[in-house]
Formats: sequence, structure tokens, C-alpha cells
Amino acid sequence: MNQSNKKNLEFIINSGVNYFLQDSPRNWFEHEKKLEQSDFNKNTGDKKTQIDEVIKDLKKHNSSLQKMATKLVVYDGNLNAKVMLIGEAPGRDEDQQGIPFVGRAGQLLNKMLLAINLQREDVYITNVVNWRPPDNRTPNDEEILEFLPFLQRQIDIIKPKFIFLLGGVAAKAILSTPLALGKLRGKWHEYKSLNLEQGIPTIASYHPAFLLRSPQYKKHSWEDLQMLQKKLKNVS
Ligand code: URA
Repeated sequence: MNQSNKKNLEFIINSGVNYFLQDSPRNWFEHEKKLEQSDFNKNTGDKKTQIDEVIKDLKKHNSSLQKMATKLVVYDGNLNAKVMLIGEAPGRDEDQQGIPFVGRAGQLLNKMLLAINLQREDVYITNVVNWRPPDNRTPNDEEILEFLPFLQRQIDIIKPKFIFLLGGVAAKAILSTPLALGKLRGKWHEYKSLNLEQGIPTIASYHPAFLLRSPQYKKHSWEDLQMLQKKLKNVS
């Protein structure tokens, strides 16, 4: 094939070769209608049903962590939230109640949210790992990877405008980096997924449990929260 034929062929393929292969005239108007319909289903489909599917799959999933835990902990908050908060794993209180961030760290998280005029009910809160690791130990890399598909599905369903990662485990899972929080915080990153039309602006900041132990880092956490608040003002 000579070069100019090859270029033409590439041009036709890139411009949607299927359109040239129809045996009847194309009804562009009907096509537009179909597109709108499928977009509608994709964007406003029932989030609750889809999240319930994830929960069902998590219950079916055989995890070694489950044997030592009490309750599966998946999410709290608002399915239409603009902000998704991702923590590490349930602790003792969360394991008892089946709700993320209800213990001391959760109380501090509520205060952090209030400081930027957000109620807990305004955001979607979840964790990387959905069963409490024994003795509250940090989930290992295998456990993070084991639960990552369930977390990614939640992000695809909720489609938050912003993600706020709480702590190093969430940062590692979502930003796929071993870099320490000190290096990651204070700037915007982007979370990408094949199932999302565009990347989601993401901040990695300190975990509230860490802030309880090391309050000197609260000023950095406050800066990160303000970055989020500033961006939130500009989205409808
Ligand atoms: N710490 C977390 O990372 N998640 C919780 O749900 C509670 C404490």
C-alpha cells in the first residue's frame, strides 16, 4: 500500500469507518436520540442498586480478614456526593457498628468536614479495606490489592467531583505510589479509570487517627482541606 492510501485509510478508520458501511441511509437524528438515552442510563442509573451489588459481591468474596472481623464496613454518607473520602480500614468501633469512621478518628473527621462547611451527610465515606485487620494493623499490599477492585467500582458508580484520601494506605491504593504523604500532600493529583470519562482531582492528606497522635500536622491537614473547599466553590 502506498503512503497516501495508507494515510487515507487511517483517516477513514479514525473518523468512524462504520458509518461508511451501512446498507441504508443513516438517520442521524435517531442516532442522537439513542446516544442521549444510553448516556442517561450511564449517568443517572440507580447508584444505590449498583452500590448494593458491590456490597453483595464483597459479602461473597472470601477474605482471610473476614474470619477475624465482626461486620463488613462499606460506606456512609451520600451517594450523590461531590466529595469521596477514602480511609484505610475499619477499626474496633467501625467493626462493631458496620459503619466507617464512627470512632475517635471519625469524630475528628466530622470536625474537619465542618471546618469547611461540610456535613458528614454531604460526602461519601469509605475505606480501602472493608474488614477490620486484626489488632488494627495496617493492611498489607496483598490486602490493599484484594479490595482495590471493590473500591474502584465504588468510585466509578459515585463519580465524585473530588477525592480526598485519608492517609498513606489510601494514597498508595489510589495514586499507585509508594511516596510518603509529606511528598504527596499539598497538591492536586488525578485519579483515572477506564470507566470514567475524565480524571477525578484528588488530594492525599493525613489520616485523622494520625492527627490525633501528632496534632502538629493539623495545620497541613487544614491547608489541604482549604484546597478542597476552594475547588468545591467552583463546581455546581
Ligand atoms: N480509620 C479508618 O481508616 N477507617 C475507619 O473507618 C475508621 C478508622
